[in-house]
Amino acid sequence: MAEQTAPAGARQGRPVTVAVLGATGYTGAELIRLLLDHPYAELAFLSSERSAGRTVGAVLPWLRNHPAAAKLTFRPLDELPEVDVAFGCLPGGQLPPRMGLVAKRAGRVLNLAGDFRLRDPEQAAAHYPASADWPEPFAYHVPEFADVPRDRFVNLPGCMAVTTVYALRPLFAAGLVEDDVVVDAKTGSSGSGRGSTEHPADRAGNFRVHKLFGHRHAPEVVQALTDYAGAAPELHFSTYSLDTPRGILVTAYSRLRPGVTALEVRRAYAASYARTPFVRLRPSPRSPQDFPMLKSVIGSNVAEVAVSVRGGRCVTVAALDNLLKGAAGQAVQTFNRLHGLPEATGLPFTAVAP
Ligand SMILES: NC(=O)c1ccc[n+]([C@@H]2O[C@H](COP(=O)([O-])OP(=O)(O)OC[C@H]3O[C@@H](n4cnc5c(N)ncnc54)[C@H](OP(=O)(O)O)[C@@H]3O)[C@@H](O)[C@H]2O)c1
Repeated sequence: MAEQTAPAGARQGRPVTVAVLGATGYTGAELIRLLLDHPYAELAFLSSERSAGRTVGAVLPWLRNHPAAAKLTFRPLDELPEVDVAFGCLPGGQLPPRMGLVAKRAGRVLNLAGDFRLRDPEQAAAHYPASADWPEPFAYHVPEFADVPRDRFVNLPGCMAVTTVYALRPLFAAGLVEDDVVVDAKTGSSGSGRGSTEHPADRAGNFRVHKLFGHRHAPEVVQALTDYAGAAPELHFSTYSLDTPRGILVTAYSRLRPGVTALEVRRAYAASYARTPFVRLRPSPRSPQDFPMLKSVIGSNVAEVAVSVRGGRCVTVAALDNLLKGAAGQAVQTFNRLHGLPEATGLPFTAVAP
């Protein structure tokens, strides 16, 4: 691994102080897990309303054996002290009304919730009505396709949206496919957060439709492809619920433009993902286990992508861990880039199996 360069805070003899807002949730807890061992981040503040006063070790049993878990205590969000970076891991709609306070105390805000992803005011009002409570802009950011953001306020992508963007961006950036595309996005149960009211017995042993039309990640995919590929395709985006805690697998079906060859498609993907350590192309999948799958990505910050062409049809498959590359890992990757650290600092490449 390349030698690490200390970020600004660390160069001044101190780590970068971070707050996690909504730290007992699935994404917040995953951020704690990553940042506990991050060499340049100091967990300065962890918010929870219901667990205020309790320690990380007492509330999150999978973290209790870390030496720091008995010392770190959750506190109500109103007690947020001055920090370098605040990660927003609150349910949608909870950060915008608190941004006045958060902006006063945090040097930067990286929001994992959807509040400020959509620029179009009509779409934002339809899908994230509370975003109007904070008028200052957030930059939408996918680390593989954008320069390091200079903005104070950054919104990270949605987990199913970004999996889809990884699947489709090479095709649209190179102008290889027709404008209409069909996407099936299958997601595990942690995607709905700890607050989900779905009973485990209803999820277990089942595989079902979540939403066939109107999912809020659809306009986000189109916005991201407009920004990063210069194309605004007609997207049919349907989502499905898997009976597994973690993981997303997206299948995208497109049609090649006349004259486009399979070789051109493979070259476009290879070029797109030649220098993206955390988005990895499966070069020539032949057997089922060569393709992206949940067991090759869960526990890692890696998104896997594979593409297959037959005749004029193109099928792309992408998979990632929704809590890592789809949320907390993506956030730490962005944090690293913002602070001039090697992108992979504190992030896992390998999955957990069986
Ligand atoms: N889960 C995923 O795969 C995923 C992926 C990407 C993005 N996201 C987005 O990230 C955000 C967090 O998701 P999550 O899955 O971690 O959610 P979650 O498991 O439901 O956790 C939400 C957290 O916010 C706190 N909270 C709840 N209501 C609150 C309120 N009214 N005021 C202040 N704090 C409150 C909760 O603890 P207390 O109630 O104790 O305060 C908890 O710590 C969501 O907006 C989600 O859309 C999730």
